[in-house]
This record gives sequence, structure tokens and C-alpha cells, in this order.
Amino acid sequence: MAKLFSPINFKNVTLKNRIVMAPMCMYSCNQEDGKVTPFHVTHYTSRAVGQVGLIMLEATAVQPEGRISSQDLGIWDDDHVEGLTDLNRQIHHYGSKTAIQLAHAGRKAQLDSNIFAPSALAFNDSYKTPQQMTVEDIKETIEAFKAASKRAKQANFDIIELHAAHGYLINQFLSPLTNIREDSYGGSRENRYRLLEEIISAVKQAWDGPLFVRISTDEYAEGGNSLEDFVYFSRRMREQGIELIDCSSGGVVPASISVYPGYQLPRCETIRKEANISTGAVGLITTGVQAEEIIQNERADLIFLARALLRDPYWPRTAATELNEKLSAPKQYERGW
Ligand SMILES: Cc1cc2nc3c(=O)[nH]c(=O)nc-3n(C[C@H](O)[C@H](O)[C@H](O)COP(=O)(O)O)c2cc1C
Repeated sequence: MAKLFSPINFKNVTLKNRIVMAPMCMYSCNQEDGKVTPFHVTHYTSRAVGQVGLIMLEATAVQPEGRISSQDLGIWDDDHVEGLTDLNRQIHHYGSKTAIQLAHAGRKAQLDSNIFAPSALAFNDSYKTPQQMTVEDIKETIEAFKAASKRAKQANFDIIELHAAHGYLINQFLSPLTNIREDSYGGSRENRYRLLEEIISAVKQAWDGPLFVRISTDEYAEGGNSLEDFVYFSRRMREQGIELIDCSSGGVVPASISVYPGYQLPRCETIRKEANISTGAVGLITTGVQAEEIIQNERADLIFLARALLRDPYWPRTAATELNEKLSAPKQYERGW
């Protein structure tokens, strides 16, 4: 059997295969209230019908001022739990597990309200200059991640992923390019890790399921974190009980990036080996053969697919055909599968 279709466990959660729907903002909360809409139900449930092992929800804001746009999904209020619970029920019905990506945009929030970041540095001319967070602001944000995790548990998610990539708030603390603080949250890499460390500790008080973290493993700019820094952060995360590092890149500062199939994979592989932790590969993975090669050669444990799954919600079936595998179908579709 192709290893892509073999199950894998994270704590008490078994994924039926290694295929993950990568988090993708849909900017579809048209009421600007952060609540799940019929679109979200159709969008995510279609990929569950398509036999994706893990459906990860898009970046979901833990505080309203932490949204990228006013149309982002949210989990900052108890009122969000009902829609998320219903969405989980629908996805679980087809045998997929669910994850939520907890996020705070920091200086990359494009909102009318004030925005916050480790330091008062704008991303570029078209973004607002953020307010430098006080220690009290930091503590409130940590509490917001914890409260969001409690709601994620109430809503029956199987896995939580913390969004520490793409230049959003946690990433802004990790990177020396965006964090020029002089207190205990800035300076050395130990200090720059402190926000993530405290968020993980707080989340674990409310959540005992598997925890993943997405990081940007390359900042594509001089003076940014090196691969060695990311191995250090990943070791720290493993020591704190993180189950998997989802290895993306970029977004910290404006930079031009050359992309090609598997462009983020070498760093993913290095982190897996050197930090001795499971990893997720992402970035221009489009075929079953490519995904199978990555899993068989133990370069990553999970395959995250974004755009390929937008094009083809039944990508697992397409990959199975390519790999000469027979994937079981939802019973309603057996005659056509
Ligand atoms: C429409 C869209 C929205 C995205 N939103 C998110 C997001 O909410 N969180 C995140 O970590 N990455 C986000 N990404 C990045 C993807 O998860 C993924 O890392 C990237 O698209 C590369 O994978 P791909 O080549 O399979 O598309 C988004 C990508 C797309 C195309």
C-alpha cells in the first residue's frame, strides 16, 4: 500500500491517511462577525467527502484585532462555538479529523482598529504602523490563545495548530527583523521564543489533544532567523510537547521568493532530523507520486495541500489512481468511484 494512505497517530487521534487540507483563509465571514457561514460548511465538508485525512481550518482569529481582514473566521467569543461545532459534526461524518489554526495577525492586520505588534514597525507602506505591545497586551493575547483553545475543545476539534508563520504575530516575535524589543520578549533567540513558549504553556492548560505549530523556516532576508535558529525553536517546541512542525516559509518581510515543486522541503527534512520531531511538508506539492516520495523517504510525516485541493476536492482519489491504489468511497458515491 502507498504510505500516503497509511494511518498515523498523534496522541489519541488517528488520521486515516497523510493528506492534510492546508489552512487557507477564505475571507468569507460577510457579516464581519467571525462566524461560520454555509460557504465554510460546503467548502470544508467537500474535502472530507474527498477523503482528506485531516481538514485544517483557515487562520482563525483569537482576538478581533488579530484578524487579517474583517472577514476572517474567529474564535474570540463563546458565540463562535456553535457554528464551529456544527462544522466539525459535518466533517467528522465523512471520517476526516479536524484541526483549527489559531492565529493573530499582529502588524499584518488590515483593519480599521488599532493594530499591535512586538515593535512599532510597519510591514510596508501600505500597512499601518502597529502599536508596540505592552507586557499587559502580551499577557492578554496569551490568555486569548488559551480561551480560544478551550472553545476549540468545546467545538470538538481533534487538533490545534498555532500559526507562528508568514509574518503574523508569533512570527513577528520570533524574528529579529520584526522584533527589536529590549525587554524579556526581545533580543536573544531565547527571549524571542518567549511569547510562543508562554502561548504553548497556556494552551496546554486548556487543551490536552495534539498541538501542531506552523513556522516560516526561511525569512528570505539578511539578518533574519537561520535554519539553525529554526532547529533550536523546533527543539524547544518538542520539549514543550508539540507533536508536529508544519514547515512553511516567508511572509516576515517583503521579499521575492523563487518557488518550485517542493521548495520548502529541504528545511522541513532538516528540522525533522535535527530536532527529532514530526513535520508536515507544504508548498507546490501537486501529485501523488511527489507526496508518496516525501513520505516513503521519511522527509515529512504529513503532506499539506493548499491550491491543489482548491482545484480538486477529490485530490486523494486522483492521487490513489495515480499510485494504483483503491480508495474507499463514501457509500453514496461507490457506483462512480
Ligand atoms: C487562498 C489561500 C489562503 C491561505 N491562507 C492561509 C492561512 O490561513 N494560513 C496559513 O498558514 N497559510 C495560508 N495559506 C498558505 C497555504 O496554507 C500553503 O502554505 C501555500 O499555499 C503553499 O501550498 P500550495 O503550494 O499547496 O498551495 C493560504 C494559501 C492560499 C492559496
